[in-house]
Amino acid sequence: MSESETIHLAADISFLHTDYLWRLPGSWIGYPYYGTSEFYEDLARVAERGVMDMLFFGDTGGTSEDYGGTHEAVVKYGAKWPRHDMTPMIPLMSKAAPQIGFALTLSTTYHDPFHCARVFNALDHVTRGRIAWNAVTSAYKNEAANYGFDVMMEHDERYERAQEFLNVACQLWDSVEPDALVLDREKGIYCDPKKVHRIDFRGRYFNVRGPLPALPSPQRRPVIIQAGLSGPGMTLAATYAELQFSTRRTLPSMKAHRAELDAKLTSVGRKPRDIGILWSIRIQVADSDADAQERERRYLESIPPEAGLVEMSAQYGVDFSIATPGMRLADFADKVRAEKGNLGSFEELLKTVDPKQSLQEFGKRFLVDRILVAAGTPKTIVDKLEELHFGTGANGGFILGRGYSAMDNIREFVDFVVPELQRRGLSKKKYAGPTLRENLNA
Ligand SMILES: Cc1cc2nc3c(=O)[nH]c(=O)nc-3n(C[C@H](O)[C@H](O)[C@H](O)COP(=O)(O)O)c2cc1C
Repeated sequence: MSESETIHLAADISFLHTDYLWRLPGSWIGYPYYGTSEFYEDLARVAERGVMDMLFFGDTGGTSEDYGGTHEAVVKYGAKWPRHDMTPMIPLMSKAAPQIGFALTLSTTYHDPFHCARVFNALDHVTRGRIAWNAVTSAYKNEAANYGFDVMMEHDERYERAQEFLNVACQLWDSVEPDALVLDREKGIYCDPKKVHRIDFRGRYFNVRGPLPALPSPQRRPVIIQAGLSGPGMTLAATYAELQFSTRRTLPSMKAHRAELDAKLTSVGRKPRDIGILWSIRIQVADSDADAQERERRYLESIPPEAGLVEMSAQYGVDFSIATPGMRLADFADKVRAEKGNLGSFEELLKTVDPKQSLQEFGKRFLVDRILVAAGTPKTIVDKLEELHFGTGANGGFILGRGYSAMDNIREFVDFVVPELQRRGLSKKKYAGPTLRENLNA
């Protein structure tokens, strides 16, 4: 993020059509079927009006059967289900909104670095330099089964594979030099062969000869995002990422996270300013703080009691349907640790949730406050964002994540919160350059 102290802004639009959000007032219902692009194109236009840096798509390719051993609950409630492949939306959105960036998720556990390098090269060309790759290691059993694994690859091994995957992908993106294209009609030279290189990679997981048979794209490599919270996740981020996406829930926990990442960066010879963090936050804006609290209350009330437990089962690969009244989150710690799925985020909950809260109570709240929340007037919200941003080194920004409805909530964010951010000089009033990387560094 260079030396810029700007608050960068993004929105996670992975779950807008799942996770009960379709029930919220102001949700996308009313648009044509969400498998078409109109909704996403409008969303991109609105976010670009707020000079937001990026729209982000997470992804998993599975249907969780963790709650009660069947897919009944996730399908009934629409919990992370369905999940369409959002790749085709990117070019359409990028046409509709020519300045904002886009992040797409691709798993290093189930895909191949050559395929990944090729797809992101093409997306970077098509968006004219506005693509980011969220490199995830994937932690869901049903997804593993869809990709042919009877047993999900173990947590730390997934990260070893990811290290090799990113190494290969980066070598492929660098395998054709930026000035390789000659296009000399007279001499009949298309490209300079001396500027196109094999990579001859032979590793534990991949053997790839290279080069990437593609011209270098505007950003050459996509902006690389990494989102794991565990030790190996932080090491992967420190080695390759430019941006991290994080779900810490309190300022002390955010500060500890930033310090851990900075130490890892130093240990691999990079600088703290080399990676910005986008902290996941849910915004509830209203005319008064009391109105915002009332909207929060209504939102919480609208969530079916078992819904949070269904989502927790999908997230941690453990059956929370067996929770009996009075059980606590900590009672499931051994089971979750044994699964080694989303370990980092579970440990964060154990550290930050009131240990006396019953699992039933917490389950209901899981959907609404598993991430940071800022609710109130634009002034109250921006005060909080400012405090969190400068309290963590002013190195990154915020990503609207989980639990907001679109179109309405994102429009409210752009129309009421962004102007207050801009008025205080905290966020950009215009895009700094044509590529996502330039905007993230401005
Ligand atoms: C904020 C955040 C976003 C993530 N997004 C995705 C995603 O879209 N798809 C996915 O398969 N995994 C996603 N993950 C999972 C990670 O890639 C990783 O597999 C998981 O967090 C386990 O690693 P950890 O123990 O290092 O956190 C995400 C994790 C976090 C913390």
